[in-house]
Amino acid sequence: MVEVYEFWTIIVTLVVVKLCHWIYKWRNPTSNGKLPPGSMGFPIIGETLEFMKPHDAFQLPTFLTKKILRHGPVFRTSLFGARVIISTDIGLNMEIAKTNHVPGAPKSLARFFGENNLFVKSKESHKHVRNLTSQFLGSQGLRLRMIQDIDSLARTHMELGAKNGGLDIKETSSKILIECLAKKVMGDMEPHAAKELTQCWRGFPRGWFRFSWSIPGNGVYRMLKARNQMMNLLKETVLKKRASGEELGEFFKIIFGETEGGSKKMSIENAIEYIFTFFVIANETTPGVLAATVKLINDNPRVKQELQREHKRIFQDKTEKDEADLTWEDYKSMTFTQMVINESLRITSTVPTMLRIVEHETHVGDYTIPAGWIFMGFPSVHFNPEKYEDPLAFNPWRWEGKDLGVILSRTYMPFGAGSRLCLGAEFAKMQMAIFIHHLCRYTWSMKTETKVLRRFILMFPRGSDVQISEDTEVDNSAVY
Ligand code: HEM
Repeated sequence: MVEVYEFWTIIVTLVVVKLCHWIYKWRNPTSNGKLPPGSMGFPIIGETLEFMKPHDAFQLPTFLTKKILRHGPVFRTSLFGARVIISTDIGLNMEIAKTNHVPGAPKSLARFFGENNLFVKSKESHKHVRNLTSQFLGSQGLRLRMIQDIDSLARTHMELGAKNGGLDIKETSSKILIECLAKKVMGDMEPHAAKELTQCWRGFPRGWFRFSWSIPGNGVYRMLKARNQMMNLLKETVLKKRASGEELGEFFKIIFGETEGGSKKMSIENAIEYIFTFFVIANETTPGVLAATVKLINDNPRVKQELQREHKRIFQDKTEKDEADLTWEDYKSMTFTQMVINESLRITSTVPTMLRIVEHETHVGDYTIPAGWIFMGFPSVHFNPEKYEDPLAFNPWRWEGKDLGVILSRTYMPFGAGSRLCLGAEFAKMQMAIFIHHLCRYTWSMKTETKVLRRFILMFPRGSDVQISEDTEVDNSAVY
């Protein structure tokens, strides 16, 4: 009896010692030099809960400001089960973004995008898909392929919203995006497949950027299920179309190298995964930023008035010329709108925009960042009063006379930097401008209770509804 008791005492002691050792190692990670200051929080969850606390979307998170006060601009932590370096040092952010290539998604998130995803598989495959995407979403592609569809979808949805007395900005923008991309990717789809794709998409749980395991019934499980459903549907449609010789969308033609200048062939599985990645990123970004932009406009009557004025001029010009559709030149003439969008992207960048896995040990001053850690670079320069006077104020006029096409500079990085610089930046800006253009055809106001929060991604706990009335402030009777 005594022997059994001793045996168990030894086992429990060993387990406790091992556990303590593991916790000690967790809290005190080693490196070949001195790690940046910081704390690793609780085992496994680290400081995820504090990091993911919802905060005002137009201000840097308290987690970040507190940590900077305590540790300075570069510090270590643990998030989503991974070891993380957070930096607000612009020089370091740019260097890491340029010299490191692997996107900084913790394992718990990377699974959504698939292990063989061409965006992450190898440098060559990444270069290839970037090149394909630029053909589709670069200025030329937008001008030739996208502007008309976005214009017509935005007009249709806005008219419907006006008839119904209002619409939800984020939802509507998401619908426009999905309808546009689905058409460009798949070409004309059978109505039932198009409906199924939209339904699949709408059933896609929001807030995929989270830390948890897939357990039947939970959000991550539903998310992975929706992902598989959507991928199967896309695959079925492509195979059917190929078998019957039907046309695929322009984007698929580019992907499969069927257009002039097309080179390497891609397997259907890879193409579907690529398209899926693209849909997820597009849908998680632009609709939220657009809804936040509308909130900022709504709360700043001078900005709203100036926008109405700009769009009234465009409506009138087009009416006089008896033209209906927006042209690239019309879009480029929306100077104030672009100032508003740039300013909104500045002030909503309260999230890390440069995410990488550190590939080689990196030295910063006295500190060493070990290879394998995740790097999150915040563009906190957007809130530096030396670069932006009164940085918390939403002031589109600060962009007057500046290059409005900018998507990256040392003081502006809402779309990241380096080899992973956002591929949809120009598309997102165009989509937002056209949406605002059509909204300004009507008298509108956002519901006062609208709240914009961030929990890594933008959240609208009370929706993003605008009330729209048909009596326009502008005369757009002839063509519009
Ligand atoms: C306002 C809207 C958007 C914002 C703020 C935004 C922001 C970003 C950021 C910060 C990155 C990461 C860059 C880095 O790690 O250095 C990124 C990457 C990316 N974005 Fe966007 N994005 C937006 C819209 C879009 C849209 C509409 C699309 C597609 C239609 C898109 C496609 C992509 C892709 C494919 C990547 C990965 C690029 C790569 O890994 O090479 N984005 N975006």
